[in-house]
Amino acid sequence: MAFELLSFEVDTDGIALVTVRRPEKLNALNAAVISELSTAFRAVQEDTQVKGLILTGEGVKAFIAGADIAEFAGLSAVEGERFSRQGQAVFRQLEALRKPSVAAINGFALGGGLELAMCATIRIAAEEAKLGLPEVKLGLIPGYGGTQRLPRLVGKAKALEMILAGSMLTARDALQCGLVNAVVSQDGLLGAAREWLTKVLLNGPLAVALAMDTIEAGLEMSLEAALRLEASAFGLAVSSQDGIEGTSAFLAKRKAVFTGK
Ligand code: COA
Repeated sequence: MAFELLSFEVDTDGIALVTVRRPEKLNALNAAVISELSTAFRAVQEDTQVKGLILTGEGVKAFIAGADIAEFAGLSAVEGERFSRQGQAVFRQLEALRKPSVAAINGFALGGGLELAMCATIRIAAEEAKLGLPEVKLGLIPGYGGTQRLPRLVGKAKALEMILAGSMLTARDALQCGLVNAVVSQDGLLGAAREWLTKVLLNGPLAVALAMDTIEAGLEMSLEAALRLEASAFGLAVSSQDGIEGTSAFLAKRKAVFTGK
């Protein structure tokens, strides 16, 4: 796979590190970056050797400072809607991976940058990171899922507060409202992301995928329907080879060997 604006590396544990590399524009997402991200997410989805994903930005200043504002000039309403839908679809690829992912937020995560980070399974931020959806300052609104995922993550009141003011949160404030899961030093950022993924990857892969799916789909359902979904997924897990292996290993006081079946 040849990328110009991303680097894509897979380590021996099967963790893919995808780095957006456009530091001179604070890693802003132009059409070329979005297209390469789509290719990278598809590769992660299809490659059975890849177990998890870390997404970050090059340098220490920015994770991703948003969609490339230069590409908004002259868009008609129809083109603007298409622009939004195309980006949403690529971001959804990350969210819908049946593999855990971490956004390692190394600096500014603004607009499309924060919207992309919200599609990762969890977010870990460096102390210096700043996060926000500043689109209203440009006379725009978030168009890559921000109006929908931010309230789902932090609640309606906090999302309205952030989106209407277009203000940036510090990493600590983002931690306090649940937008990020942890704050660490810049030097420790990729290590912390790897540490969490490594812990997850020791567990039954089928169970991890089922838990992700059930949480994701269940949040969009009534509690009654979601509980039914959970019960079906539990049935699948408990009767899977991994479920049988995990429970037998516990009872036999030995370490489980999971196969993802
Ligand atoms: N789209 C296009 N270019 C961007 C960009 C974006 N979202 N964010 C930063 N850049 C470019 C700047 O235009 C500048 O390019 P130049 O050197 O060719 O002039 C370069 O990246 C460096 O950014 P600069 O603004 O000089 O850095 P700064 O430290 O003064 O400010 C920010 C940093 C993040 C506060 C500022 O760049 C900013 O507000 N960016 C836009 C954030 C935004 O509104 N995102 C949502 C977009 S919908």
